[in-house]
Amino acid sequence: MESAIKTVEKYGTPLFIFDERVLAERIKSLRKRLPEEVDLCYAVKANTFVTACAAKYVERLEICSPGEYDICKKYGIGNRQTVISGVNKTEEYIKRVIADTVSNPAEGIFTAESVRQADMLEKAAGEAGKNLNVLLRLSSGNQFGMDEAELKAIVCRNREKYPHLCIKGIQYFSGTQKHSLKKDAREIAYVNEFMDRLYEETGFVCEELEYGTGFPVFYFQGEAFDEDSFLKDFSELIRLSSLKRKTVLEIGRSIAAGCGSYASRVVDLKTVKGQNYAILDGGINQLVYYGQTMAMKHPYYKRFPEKKDGGEENWNLCGSLCTVNDILVKQLPIKKLEAGDIFIFKNTGAYSATEGIALFLSRQLPRVVRIKESGEAELVREAFETSVLNS
Ligand SMILES: Cc1ncc(COP(=O)(O)O)c(C=O)c1O
Repeated sequence: MESAIKTVEKYGTPLFIFDERVLAERIKSLRKRLPEEVDLCYAVKANTFVTACAAKYVERLEICSPGEYDICKKYGIGNRQTVISGVNKTEEYIKRVIADTVSNPAEGIFTAESVRQADMLEKAAGEAGKNLNVLLRLSSGNQFGMDEAELKAIVCRNREKYPHLCIKGIQYFSGTQKHSLKKDAREIAYVNEFMDRLYEETGFVCEELEYGTGFPVFYFQGEAFDEDSFLKDFSELIRLSSLKRKTVLEIGRSIAAGCGSYASRVVDLKTVKGQNYAILDGGINQLVYYGQTMAMKHPYYKRFPEKKDGGEENWNLCGSLCTVNDILVKQLPIKKLEAGDIFIFKNTGAYSATEGIALFLSRQLPRVVRIKESGEAELVREAFETSVLNS
């Protein structure tokens, strides 16, 4: 945090800081606590800025849009390491990815989220004269993936209707912030039972399961979570799958959250009808804490300068948007808050820079500073005027 404040002093606020040293350690630490035989896949959507670093430590990257694909290209990441996922894959996008591949079957993997997508992949592969590695996405009861019957129909018609698709197995993701091991147990048992059933009914062998774990991140003070024992129990569950077939864990939030800090400065202070309000130069367009209901919970943060003397007062920390919803934290007890003070919010490495309602109010996108593994700070995005996009 001491070095974070130096970076903030240099680059100003609001500011995202993503520390790749923390990211690298996090991935290594997850790997140590998960079964040796499972592979890790980083879901790029959580934080695109740290993709190149993550790529050094995980086997695979999950890409969900042409934009994320372009980011991987920019970082020089080869298709071998990618799984092209997502509900909307255009013909042009599929062709572009195939054209970037040299081997046959083409390097990397595509997911098929529907029969139409399987048809599109087959057509593009046939035209390019290449085979494609494919995971069929099994739905968990929403718009993502297919139901069992459709998935089974594709498997059954693999040879005659989809000769260019090398179907490797199943992708399954049922949601983020899952902290119920019972839910994980049910899901892992279900997917494995389904794959066994698929074999019994069609003879198709699922060589691989790509499972979105939705591992939780505990963002708020007072929440207790024993991650070691959680991962130990999860490891027992996933062995059910990993002993039978290649198992890849697809993770975004839990990999990236800890590497990020978001700094925002107090620009105004007022008391209205007995309530203290601090206006910050950031806002909910840039800071997203999953599970933050009505700003009632207190995230981990540090205030600079630190003030030890004096009594505490409760402050509502508000952002700069013209909406009453733009409250970052309600009733935060703080000593001697003053204009110019800086808050550095922790655990903002996942889904803040990439998920915020960035264009609202035509506010600037903040600068992004990446702390490289060498410790050197690098400005990777200048502040960006969104007014040009909103007019
Ligand atoms: C298919 C898929 N896999 C993985 C993830 C990453 O989830 P999390 O960030 O909870 O790990 C997502 C998130 O939306 C997803 O849609």
